[in-house]
Amino acid sequence: MKHLKYLNKYFWKYKYRFVLGTIFVVVSNIFGLYPPQIMRIAVNVITENVYLFKLYRGFNIQQKYFFLLNSILLVLSVTLIAMAVIRGIFMFFMRQTIIVMSRLIEYDLKNEMYDHYQQLHPNFYKVNSTGDLMSRLTEDVSKVRMYLGPAVMYTINLVTLFVLVISTMIQINAYLSFIVLLPLPLLSYSIYKVSVIINRKSEVIQGKLSGLTTMAQEVFSGIRVIKSYVREKTYNDHFEEASIDYKKNFLELSKIEAFFAPLMLLLIGLSTILTVYVGGLEVSRGRFTAGNIAEFVFYINMLTWPVASLGWVASLVQRAAASQKRINEFLSIEAEIYNTKALPIQSIENLVFKEVSFTYDNTGIQALKDISFEIKRGEQFAIVGKTGTGKSTIAELILRSFDASSGEIRINGKLLQDLDVHQLRNITGYVPQDVFLFSATVAGNIQFGLEHASQSEIIQAAKDAEIHKDIEYLKHGYDTIVGERGVTLSGGQKQRISIARALVKQPELLILDDCLSAVDANTEHSILNNFKRAFENKTVLFITHRIFSLMDFDKILVLDEGTIKEQGTHEELLEKKGIYWEMYQLQQQESTELKQKFV
Ligand SMILES: Nc1ncnc2c1ncn2[C@@H]1O[C@H](COP(=O)(O)OP(=O)(O)OP(=O)(O)O)[C@@H](O)[C@H]1O
Ligand SMILES: [Mg+2]
Repeated sequence: MKHLKYLNKYFWKYKYRFVLGTIFVVVSNIFGLYPPQIMRIAVNVITENVYLFKLYRGFNIQQKYFFLLNSILLVLSVTLIAMAVIRGIFMFFMRQTIIVMSRLIEYDLKNEMYDHYQQLHPNFYKVNSTGDLMSRLTEDVSKVRMYLGPAVMYTINLVTLFVLVISTMIQINAYLSFIVLLPLPLLSYSIYKVSVIINRKSEVIQGKLSGLTTMAQEVFSGIRVIKSYVREKTYNDHFEEASIDYKKNFLELSKIEAFFAPLMLLLIGLSTILTVYVGGLEVSRGRFTAGNIAEFVFYINMLTWPVASLGWVASLVQRAAASQKRINEFLSIEAEIYNTKALPIQSIENLVFKEVSFTYDNTGIQALKDISFEIKRGEQFAIVGKTGTGKSTIAELILRSFDASSGEIRINGKLLQDLDVHQLRNITGYVPQDVFLFSATVAGNIQFGLEHASQSEIIQAAKDAEIHKDIEYLKHGYDTIVGERGVTLSGGQKQRISIARALVKQPELLILDDCLSAVDANTEHSILNNFKRAFENKTVLFITHRIFSLMDFDKILVLDEGTIKEQGTHEELLEKKGIYWEMYQLQQQESTELKQKFV
């Protein structure tokens, strides 16, 4: 239960609804108490008068007597219906307050969790699978809601009904009350037991279902690989196996559920039989009337559902507590990037790395060692290096996806950690190495970089990224839907849309991470020429594993195994005849070989 304490703040937030709901529960139950009493009066009226009625046979008075009895019963029936209607109205309000409250809390909790998700670290998303993250937001929250709504409502209902009904029953006949209520705890307990089994089974089934879904999802997204390796049959077999397992578990659950309803009916029936039998004996002793038997049968029926729900509620609370525990664990994960001082930052005059080292916590890989460099406003700066040498890590540090393990990064002389991280990201344009497009239009995807970008700005950015012609070629032009559910673009096209997204922003600092890897030589040439113009007077950090002699970078850093091996301009580096020179030679050789091949 201690895990559920977290939710008390929400109960407090909606206290008025909660209190009002409780009042509605009590009132509706009070109106529920009248029908059994009316029933008793009706039965008593009938049993007491039936002999007298028969005695009057053949006399005129019988007709009048019949009319009298008839009117009494009619009045009783109308009252009974009126009571039921009033009770129904209050029940409606009870649900409207308490169940609505639970939906509102569910909404708040989801928002709280979603906000938290957005603050968490990229590494959190690497460690946790998407399915797991989704299930917390959907399944766990909906289980918690079952506690907030139905469980709370039925508990309040149960308590008030118990107090009201049982006290009334005891006033009438304490001995009989005791006897007929005996099977109820048994009912409650067995329902609890069965519910626990059903819940456990359901969870297993849920797991199997999500396994099936994941499997299908993987097949759908990897269908091209599967087909080209002719592995359809293997996957079919896997899927069938998993389906059969799922079916088996589901049938088991159905069996238990089928057992559940008869068990409930049996125990309720037992109580009713006891009422009629022991009640009958009491009538013969003169301590009870026939009307009382009818009244008691009513009471028993009123109690059975709440008592049965007790077991169900207990299992709901148990499940909600387990879910809330997972949610609490998740909410207690701290966003590792702090925005404490949040000093404003509007422009970038210079960016300095001083002896920066960085180790990835999750793998223990030291990606950067003692990195020092300075980028000044308007400079075009390149970082060159082979794969896995820590180039992307530098970009991630500047954007504060991670904080450096040691050393200092300063912008305009201020520590990076002290600057407002959102403003910093706002004035930076970033083209990540792995392109991501949203399921939206091409224009929308570019506009993502600058919310209020005009059509002409979007087109200019697309032209600079050398994608404009490709877009015009699409059926709906800039309004073509791309991304997961849209048309399939080539890797190079996606990459160029991603570049346009960063360019449209007109950022203070532009970081391009290996943004030409999927672009052919001709397009590369055009883009580089556009870049030269687009980059004028801009601060640019250009990360690449290839050397672009065309670009005239002000400075080039050569990274190797996380350290700076060389730095200088293209010409200076070539003169050094070091790694850069080697890389350049290799690249030249490859391109001449390629040319020879195709000539
Ligand atoms: N999120 C991460 N968690 C743990 N280790 C990582 C993570 N990202 C990168 N690494 C490791 O850090 C090292 C440097 O990676 P980085 O991505 O910075 O290299 P890179 O120079 O950009 O390579 P490439 O040219 O292939 O993109 C690699 O050894 C990599 O395995
Ligand atoms: Mg990289």
